[in-house]
Amino acid sequence: MAASDSFYLTTPIFYVNDVPHIGHAYTEVAADVLTRWHRQSGDDTWLLTGTDEHGQKILRTAVANDTTPKEWADKLVHDAWLPLLETINIRNDDFIRTTDERHEKGVLIFLQKLYDDGYIYSGEYEGYYCVGCEEYKQLDDLMETEDGDFAGQKLCKIHTRPVEVLKERNYFFRMSDFQDRLLDLYETNPQFIQPESVRNEIIQFVKQGLSDLSVSRSSFDWGIKIPWDESHVLYVWFDALLNYATAIGYGVDQEQFDRRWPATHLVGKDIARFHAVIWPAMLMAAGIEVPRQVFGHGWLLVGGEKMSKSKLTGIAPSQITETFGVDAFRYYFMSAISFGQDGSFSWEDLSARYQAELANGFGNLASRVVAMVTRYYDGVLPAPADYSDADLAIQATVAKATVNADAAINSLAIHEAISAIWTIVEELNGYITIQEPWVLAKQDETRERLGTVLYTASEGLRALAVLLSPVIPEATGKLWAALGASGALDDQPVRDAGRWGQLEPGAGVAPLEPLFPRIEEVPA
Ligand code: MSP
Repeated sequence: MAASDSFYLTTPIFYVNDVPHIGHAYTEVAADVLTRWHRQSGDDTWLLTGTDEHGQKILRTAVANDTTPKEWADKLVHDAWLPLLETINIRNDDFIRTTDERHEKGVLIFLQKLYDDGYIYSGEYEGYYCVGCEEYKQLDDLMETEDGDFAGQKLCKIHTRPVEVLKERNYFFRMSDFQDRLLDLYETNPQFIQPESVRNEIIQFVKQGLSDLSVSRSSFDWGIKIPWDESHVLYVWFDALLNYATAIGYGVDQEQFDRRWPATHLVGKDIARFHAVIWPAMLMAAGIEVPRQVFGHGWLLVGGEKMSKSKLTGIAPSQITETFGVDAFRYYFMSAISFGQDGSFSWEDLSARYQAELANGFGNLASRVVAMVTRYYDGVLPAPADYSDADLAIQATVAKATVNADAAINSLAIHEAISAIWTIVEELNGYITIQEPWVLAKQDETRERLGTVLYTASEGLRALAVLLSPVIPEATGKLWAALGASGALDDQPVRDAGRWGQLEPGAGVAPLEPLFPRIEEVPA
């Protein structure tokens, strides 16, 4: 398979110190929508997600809970992180844990190579460390307050908690050697970091100068042991970033690696720097091609601040899916927020969009058309006769929406893809109001016209089912079944959705329950 047909997408691997909130689910859904789109287009697609289980943060959480870090990680993975994927309907191809043997194996190979090639040396370091970020901080990254529990202490700006002063003999990665090559990469390949705001920030950061990176710790032992010095464990970010390579067989299965690599990395903008600076430098040192792209999406905000568990603003995804359903969750976050920008969540906004867009806009359209075919044609899809200009306009809308949505997905503009597809919903609703099939149904002379109108509307729904299936797989599955379309919905190539006339006249159309039922009580 040609490399251009391969689409390997990754999410960050999540810390298992706590349970997921809708911010984590947001990244997962975006990754899932993109990969479902590619998979359904016939591209050789792979979606990787997983968990980040080493380091001081997890160790401390385990100790605070009177358990070992491995037991704690096992519990969180099985009770919280794997169930999350079910809750929001993620179709991942793999799930990697940094405690997997396959991961450790690949990491050791990689480290040894860097060490043998002279990219790692032993040195002394003293600095401020934030355990929440698992990162050494510069003074610019810190703040101080005059009141509260932490008065007079240096706090991490992200976590607003005190940093710790660490002084250790460590191993260092020669990251500073890669400053020019990184800047050159950002310059010659503007797509490498997206969106533009994240790209600019990273270029600024690297231009200020890169230091070498401390990549080992000896004050605790929860991590992968450094192969040439077992009194040290590997720095958790160095360990975690390597998951993208070890999961596809780095050092062990070259064929699989070559088939998948290079990856597109979807991350929150908070961790874009690790992915767009440290990670490509590591790959350059090891002589591996850099990733195809690092995309840093925006944050879900609550009260203007990044939603986070440590600030007690986290909302569990199940709180939303239990009331609105999984499709509504997926649709809402993908359509309401421009992908790449920050966005605020509110129950009122979710509720209003559910009602206006999903229930009244799309769901009602689907129910009405299917009900009319059932009522006027006994559930047998009529054949179209001559197409009028209005019918041809619908065909053109469907064709254009397909092309525009595919282009938007290719630039990771998921919200634009949905709005391109939504032009079909809007045009079809207008078409039905103007064509008045219920009036055409009253006389025999207009029976042929009625057939054309209902075939046109059904074909529009067929295209909508295919195009929306990556976003709202449950509802579109029901619609697909009701339309009596042949083949599995998952097998319908999205890029071909705009080709008119795929429904067979004579197919059996079955009644459809409301796809988005009325919600009686909305949580506050
Ligand atoms: N373990 C590291 C990532 C290692 S990747 C090699 C980590 N984990 S995390 O559990 O803190 O997850 C961070 C990611 O969760 C963010 O990059 C983002 O994808 C997602 N989000 C967490 N909070 C979020 C919001 N409030 N809004 C949007 N995304 C959020 O960092």
